[in-house]
Amino acid sequence: MKKTALSLLLALAASSAASADDAIKDIMKKYHKPEDAICKKVGKGEATDADLATLLKAYQTMCAGTPAKGDKAAWVEKCQALIAAVKKVQAKDASGMSDFKKAINCKACHDVHKGK
Ligand code: HEC
Repeated sequence: MKKTALSLLLALAASSAASADDAIKDIMKKYHKPEDAICKKVGKGEATDADLATLLKAYQTMCAGTPAKGDKAAWVEKCQALIAAVKKVQAKDASGMSDFKKAINCKACHDVHKGK
């Protein structure tokens, strides 16, 4: 009984880790890449409350994932900076926008964490 519960837990942990990695790609494709991506709207101050809520959830998922490359602690730090910035923008904190622009630096993160 105990053993069954443990292996079930392990199976769950393994499957959620795998989907978190794919989640990083999905989040990039959905929220970073398109011309009208939410991250671009945030930069222009055009994101709605719903956009911000969606983006926050995506970054929380991304944070739980493991990037193709680089140190996990450095990854979590970058994701946390994005999460904190989105929360500030949500709270209409004036420094949120500049924090977000710093945290969303594509190249700085890709150089360290993106494979190939
Ligand atoms: C906090 C780190 C981070 C930031 C910031 C970031 N990216 Fe990424 N991005 C990644 C990682 C990690 C991958 C590799 C995902 C993989 O292949 O598993 C990636 C992959 C991508 C991909 C390829 C997705 C695919 O189809 O495989 C695109 C496109 C992309 N990012 C766009 C952007 C753009 C545009 C920005 C800036 C507006 C940006 N990213 C900012 C971490 C980041």
